[in-house]
Amino acid sequence: MCGIVGYIGFREAYPIILKGLKRLEYRGYDSAGIALYDGENIKLSKTKGKVDDLERKIKSEISTKGSLGIGHTRWATHGVPNDINSHPHYSKSGDLVIIHNGIIENYESLKKELIQRGYSFTSDTDTEVLINLIEDIKKSENIKLGKAVQIALTQVVGAYAIAVFDKNKPNEIVVARLGSPLAIGVGDDEFFIASDASPFIEYTNNAIYLEDEEMAIVRRDKPIKIRKIKDDSLVNPYVQELQLNLEQIEKGGYDHFMLKEIHEQPHAIKDTYRGRLRVNEGIIKMAGVDDNIEKFLNAKRIIVVACGTSWHAGLVSEYIFENFARIPVEVEYASEFRYRNPIINENDVVIAISQSGETADTLAAIKLAKSRGAFVFGVCNVVGSTIARETDAGAYTHAGPEIGVASTKAFTTQITVLTLIALKLAKAKGTISNSDYHLTLGELELIPQKVETALGSDAHIKSIAHTYKDSKNCLYLGRGYNFPVALEGALKLKEISYIHAEGYPAAEMKHGPIALIDENMPIIVIATKKGHYDKIVSNIQEIKSRKGKIIGIVTEGDQTVKGLADHVIEVPDTLESLSPLLTTIPLQLLSYHIAVMLDKNVDQPRNLAKSVTVE
Ligand code: F6R
Repeated sequence: MCGIVGYIGFREAYPIILKGLKRLEYRGYDSAGIALYDGENIKLSKTKGKVDDLERKIKSEISTKGSLGIGHTRWATHGVPNDINSHPHYSKSGDLVIIHNGIIENYESLKKELIQRGYSFTSDTDTEVLINLIEDIKKSENIKLGKAVQIALTQVVGAYAIAVFDKNKPNEIVVARLGSPLAIGVGDDEFFIASDASPFIEYTNNAIYLEDEEMAIVRRDKPIKIRKIKDDSLVNPYVQELQLNLEQIEKGGYDHFMLKEIHEQPHAIKDTYRGRLRVNEGIIKMAGVDDNIEKFLNAKRIIVVACGTSWHAGLVSEYIFENFARIPVEVEYASEFRYRNPIINENDVVIAISQSGETADTLAAIKLAKSRGAFVFGVCNVVGSTIARETDAGAYTHAGPEIGVASTKAFTTQITVLTLIALKLAKAKGTISNSDYHLTLGELELIPQKVETALGSDAHIKSIAHTYKDSKNCLYLGRGYNFPVALEGALKLKEISYIHAEGYPAAEMKHGPIALIDENMPIIVIATKKGHYDKIVSNIQEIKSRKGKIIGIVTEGDQTVKGLADHVIEVPDTLESLSPLLTTIPLQLLSYHIAVMLDKNVDQPRNLAKSVTVE
């Protein structure tokens, strides 16, 4: 939540920061601001709204000259989104300026103390408290900015990625992190600061990722110095070479990132299994699992912790692990798990799933599980993310950057990784027959081309979207492997179109939701040929008798559901266990088209942010 950008070097800082903020808007987009040092003074402009609003406003307010600056795009925590609460924030004297991603939990007590010492505050934010605490320490102890930041951070409780500069010392930016990501792009005679590498990827491939409880003083004329905040020890900067390229973070001709990412799925799934799935040899290579195979094989159970869409992928994996590897699985909302004193020990394997690798609740669940002796395995997309680093071992999804706030390719690639793990364990445990094992491997390899075929129904799905775009409610039903897909379909619709939608196991409909069904209620039923087909056909009959509008997601060539439903969307035939990888596609497209037709902001739905780094 919140994106931060900074620049110090020989170029004009403003265009770099502005473009960087646009790339980081997925992290929060309710207000934005920039502070620049123009050679004499700090110039600051900020506004409620998006980075485009800031761009329109800024030139009438300030000169955008200067080669040092910081910028922020906000997802509000303390204080409503308005101009005043937007970042950057000045200190009382106006000498210091800060941007902050995170939450200072003890800000109220710090604020009281500062008020007693003569400070006053214009905003409702915790961030303004932090910059004044820094100023207070700097002045009262007559010390340099870096030292004052360090001391202040030992007094705060919470999470932060911050960048601060002082107009009286405009040759440095002080940065620090705890719980929120912070990358430093290292160029020739210039440095970039950002929540992820996307703002600086066209300038440098070299980046340093600060670890928790580290701070750095970034100066144009000196090598970067990194210190541990608590014990002041120096840390050797580790400069990583990035694999990211510009094309991956641009829309590439699509109207929205979400649509681009939906269409990237054939490629993304292939990238997920590339080098791992070796169909001809009948093996699956995954270093993170191979190196810890005993832990997995001896596990009494697997506990999956995740949030949102990643939690839905975890639910799919419950079916996959239990069916193939015969290991009991529990799927937990990370936010519940972390606070309910779960029974967990060294016989458990915990799988933490997270696209961003930064979700605060998932991270806290990991820490709890580790403290109780469990082996924790991460399934993340963002390389080098906090969760990827905090877990004992893991497997990346390799889906490439996901920028649309609604998760799409993250979901299908998470399921792909989890399927690979389950098949690998099943083979090692002997809980899958040779023929089923080889059949599933071969079929998994074909999934990308089948996803491509499923994407071919786009125009048909668009016409269905047109019919139902004005609905007020929607039901999504599925059974077995496709029950979590129903949940995911409903989540996609509500988060980008703001239409109320519920996902249910199809048979549960009779226990309540059936009361909602009338001739105005669209019901999306996942009714592919395998699994509980006959049962779901009966559920469809029950809906039809109550005049509900039925949109069936069916296997190519299906006639039975076609005869009953108002519309059908076909997906290619595959194994039941792999069917979520195909049935998800039309649900993503349906939500996308409805949201576009309703003129909603598909990539940046209201109130949401891509990376939820607050609990
Ligand atoms: C929904 C969505 C969210 C995320 C959730 C977890 O489309 O994107 O529900 O799935 O916030 O995020 P990660 O996977 O980054 O931990």
